[in-house]
Amino acid sequence: VTVKQIHRTGFHFRPKRHWINDPNAPLYFNGIYHLFYQYNPKGSVWGNIVWAHSVSKDMINWKALDHAMYPSKPFDINGVWSGSATVLPGNIPVILYTGLDPNNTQVQNYAVPANASDPYLREWIKPDNNPLVVPTKDINASQFRDPTTAWWSNGQWKMLVGSRRKLRGMAYLYRSKDFFNWVKAKHPLHSAPNTGMWECPDFYPVLLAGKKGLDTSVNGKNVKFVLKVSLDLTRYDYYTVGKYNAAKDKYIPDNTSIDGWEGLRYDYGNFYASKTFYDPAKKRRILWGWANESDSSEDDIKKGWAGIQAIPRTVWLDPSGKQLVQWPVEELNCLRGQKVHKNNVKLNKGDHVEIKGITAAQADVEATFSFPRLDKAEKFDPKWVKAQDVCAQKGSKNQGGVGPFGLLTLASKNLEEFTPVFFRIFKAPKRHVVLLCSDARSSSLGEGLYKPSFAGFVDVDLADKKLSLRSLIDHSVVESYGAGGKTCITSRVYPTLAILGDAHLFVFNNGSETVTVENLNAWSMKSPRVD
Ligand code: FRU
Repeated sequence: VTVKQIHRTGFHFRPKRHWINDPNAPLYFNGIYHLFYQYNPKGSVWGNIVWAHSVSKDMINWKALDHAMYPSKPFDINGVWSGSATVLPGNIPVILYTGLDPNNTQVQNYAVPANASDPYLREWIKPDNNPLVVPTKDINASQFRDPTTAWWSNGQWKMLVGSRRKLRGMAYLYRSKDFFNWVKAKHPLHSAPNTGMWECPDFYPVLLAGKKGLDTSVNGKNVKFVLKVSLDLTRYDYYTVGKYNAAKDKYIPDNTSIDGWEGLRYDYGNFYASKTFYDPAKKRRILWGWANESDSSEDDIKKGWAGIQAIPRTVWLDPSGKQLVQWPVEELNCLRGQKVHKNNVKLNKGDHVEIKGITAAQADVEATFSFPRLDKAEKFDPKWVKAQDVCAQKGSKNQGGVGPFGLLTLASKNLEEFTPVFFRIFKAPKRHVVLLCSDARSSSLGEGLYKPSFAGFVDVDLADKKLSLRSLIDHSVVESYGAGGKTCITSRVYPTLAILGDAHLFVFNNGSETVTVENLNAWSMKSPRVD
């Protein structure tokens, strides 16, 4: 196998070759899921961006179509950048996207299907009354992009455009009666100091209870709102949960999390420029995100490809109302093949036990770990604010009290390489603190790689003394869901030994408290058609 092939993913969405970034305008229309994405048709670094287009019946198997949009008109001759889809009454899909004009001014345009009765919506027209929105003088014309899905409220369409004013991140609000004439609202929907450019904003309602999703225009008593922004400065996707005052067109985040870059993230790893859409077929809201590479551009050029999309996730509000929960779409399960099952595996300090019988380089693993008591939990240092720093300091090799325990994914036989995904539990004065880590430091003997100790805290009730973990392992990606999807971490890793048939999977415990793998199911994953 050539260097080009060993890190190619099997069931994550990726093109056959070249560069991809943001998912664009995900959409369900007449029985078909559409995914557009930022794509360089000429190489595996960013540039020459077009809107590539794929269609699917299950979001797992895809068929690639001709590019939906490329620079061709004065209002987008220097770029067709990210955007979103809105389905107008009468079942008419419209795309809003950012164009770069001849002066590189960022303007907001629209595109419509040439033939709405084509089930694949293959051809898109960019009408000549574009652009719909140009930056006024008070707006930074080179930092004004990524229009959201529009929503209908108080007799008008509303949409957001991401921007910044100096270091203040901005979600500019626009209103329209007819979707074509847009007027900037006096006040942004929301803004926050010292957060820098807000790329790819996303704004949507979630139900207070249950996993059902809501169409973007729904509001009411049993509803909260989510505002997500992609912070250019840190390259993570942050969100808050809050209220939308539709009369004032203001978003007010709840004070249950930080509104800024110490706040909640969809994913504490490689996951950026994400976007949700409402799937009316299964009444759920689905999240797509770009899992960018952690290798060098030189490697990407050698590989001939760069970038994948994370597995689409269903998102809903946690019963606490304080955060979201995410879970891979149920359709993913159709790829599960050969299965192994384990229960009641006792793991003493220092143990690691191999899970044999599946293709460990391309697998879906679900495990529940239990521990008899919490007294041995290590002391939590109140100075630890950033989960990633704690993970870097404590790691998987450093012995603990309750944990570290979890999975060693993409491991070489003798553990020269492995990507551990694990929990560590700490004791703070009045509570326990749970840390989930996905530590790439030991993932590869290769050089020139970014190998971060990604981590997030998990706000979970430990009353039943159990923690669950699901990891989707796919050659160069480990996408993990802690505590049923309360904390997610995606790592991109590039093993040199733990590849293909030489990759192994273990469960491990490196804490003094004995941990039991109560239940573990692992499946070899089949490769769908993705390009
Ligand atoms: C985010 C982003 C967007 C922009 C697009 C260009 O990754 O920078 O803000 O529209 O990518 O490809």
